[in-house]
Amino acid sequence: MNRPEEKKEFVRAKFASISSRYDLLNSLLSFQVDRYWRWKTTRLLKEFQEGAVLDLCAGTLPLSLELTRQVKDRRVLAVDFCEDMLRSGRQNLPDDHRKPRIFPVCGDGEEIPAPDLTFWGCTVAFGVRNLSRTQKGLNEMYRVLKPGGKLLILEFSRPKNPVIKPLYNFYLNSILPKIAGLVSGDKEAYEYLASSIAAFHEPEELLKMMKTAGFSSTDYKPLTFGIVTIYIGIK
Ligand SMILES: C[S@@+](CC[C@H](N)C(=O)[O-])C[C@H]1O[C@@H](n2cnc3c(N)ncnc32)[C@H](O)[C@@H]1O
Repeated sequence: MNRPEEKKEFVRAKFASISSRYDLLNSLLSFQVDRYWRWKTTRLLKEFQEGAVLDLCAGTLPLSLELTRQVKDRRVLAVDFCEDMLRSGRQNLPDDHRKPRIFPVCGDGEEIPAPDLTFWGCTVAFGVRNLSRTQKGLNEMYRVLKPGGKLLILEFSRPKNPVIKPLYNFYLNSILPKIAGLVSGDKEAYEYLASSIAAFHEPEELLKMMKTAGFSSTDYKPLTFGIVTIYIGIK
């Protein structure tokens, strides 16, 4: 997968193939800690009680749901380039006050289908690692935010703790693809998960790229022994 277009096609096809099982596997494989990670991330947008938020790489909409749960008047544009993921999310949306405030749109995170200066917040949960051109995506996130708007990226990272690290790597590389392969029927998709985490930027590198895109007050917070990290940037 050397060419960005090749990665795009591969990523889209893999998410399409696991879309109907994605939510179940997320809960199962993370022992439901993923809910806490999403809650922690979206809480960092609590100062923006009005206006629209962009949930990029929204997938089956779990973060969009949390964003609309926390703020009653918030609207969320949920962009993803895999139609099957969005469709699966839409089908499973609970029929409550959140549903009419979530607008799923099929589009590419590297060419965000929104005008400049539109959103107070942009969230990306477990999506940045999947972009083919990370810097292009970050530049686009910057473009669509209003001045003072906030970018929040939730992404897997690599734990440094000498006890946790080998245990986590064994789980990620050997146990997780087997369970996920059985449940989803696509073991390769979860082997890709492990290899994409191994190949992803170090937190400091990602912060540098955010700064290059124009973000200031950049910071990151590791969670759960550094299994995931939240990155923050202000336009
Ligand atoms: C691991 S899922 C995350 C879904 C959701 N945000 C969550 O918290 O579970 C990653 C999503 O990123 C999407 N994605 C990857 N590259 C993309 C791109 N260039 N543009 C839009 N979506 C993309 C995939 O289709 C997939 O739905």
